[in-house]
Amino acid sequence: MRFASIVGARPQFVKVALVSKILRQQHEELIIHTGQHYDYALSTQFFNELAIPEPDYYLGCGSASHAVQTARMLIALEEVLTKERIDWVIVYGDTNSTLAAALVAAKLHIPIAHIEAGLRSFNRAMPEEINRIVTDHLASRLFCPTETARQQANREGLFQGVEFVGDVMYDMLLQMQSKLDDRINLLLPELHIASQKYVLTTVHRAVNTDDSTATNAIAQALNKIEMPVIFPMHPRTRACLQSYNIQLKKHIQVIEPVGYLDMLALQRAAYRIITDSGGIQKEAFLQGVPCVTLRDETEWMETVQLGWNVLVGTQWQRILEALARPAPQPARQNPFGQGDAAIRIVQSWQR
Ligand code: UD1
Repeated sequence: MRFASIVGARPQFVKVALVSKILRQQHEELIIHTGQHYDYALSTQFFNELAIPEPDYYLGCGSASHAVQTARMLIALEEVLTKERIDWVIVYGDTNSTLAAALVAAKLHIPIAHIEAGLRSFNRAMPEEINRIVTDHLASRLFCPTETARQQANREGLFQGVEFVGDVMYDMLLQMQSKLDDRINLLLPELHIASQKYVLTTVHRAVNTDDSTATNAIAQALNKIEMPVIFPMHPRTRACLQSYNIQLKKHIQVIEPVGYLDMLALQRAAYRIITDSGGIQKEAFLQGVPCVTLRDETEWMETVQLGWNVLVGTQWQRILEALARPAPQPARQNPFGQGDAAIRIVQSWQR
């Protein structure tokens, strides 16, 4: 069969790296990069590091308002998918690239497989929530990373093609295990930090960067932390801090966005993680690092229920209180599958 995997943003590159490798053992695959992420640190770095095949199409859609960005993708994707003979379109997660790909494929009557289906934050003010709902309801195969996600899809009337397979990010993390210690030993001295003696933070969600009150409160909390803070900074966050004229204190080391292995290494050795990223909340749990999430809701409720994640929104007092809580008991269950999600996804086309 001939697949088109459509990706555009950083976390999608990590997921396609693994699925594509397995898919290509039996099928033909085109990779289409919408260009939603275009900076080296957010895009090419991942293709190089994870040895992802060069995209067959790079659409260069870039940054813009949601409407303009999505519209550019719709036009460009329709052109490609009309020209190529494609049996299935594979989309990942919940970005504008996911939404655009799903819309185009559905209108061209190409079946859609959605990897990371069934997740909900139940907050429709998040662009990602809209993207997920629409994509799930257009997809013919919904590969759910957790049992909760599968049940949610069922609650929305989706049954056919819905399957709990586990999370491909967990598969990926397992594959990187053997490299992590060496990477930690190299990276920490470079950054002049010691294992368990720093906090890792990332902030990039629109809700936290486009509202100066939220950004200020987060910065205030970070400024009060009494240990080094490592802050790989998304370009939009850098721009927002500058435009709001927010100063970060010296114990906060702002660095460029890091690659996948470095991010896992920084997570693993951190004392605590503060983030608004979905993927990092999950990785923190899987790596046994307590996480403080700068949101009021999460798609990964299991991490909260098992005690490894606290949702704090953006009040600086709550951020610091959550940071100070003791580490929870090791989790006895892993809701993210067996580490074979990518294999199970590809096998679903053999049945
Ligand atoms: C997108 C996803 C988000 C995901 C994230 C992963 C949507 C609505 N959001 O958010 O769900 O968690 O990717 O990282 O799809 N920018 C650059 N360089 C780039 C790309 C973006 O500087 O290579 C800046 C631009 O100022 C741009 C802003 O970041 O306007 C936001 O870009 P956007 O495409 O909305 O994506 P993310 O915020 O990264």
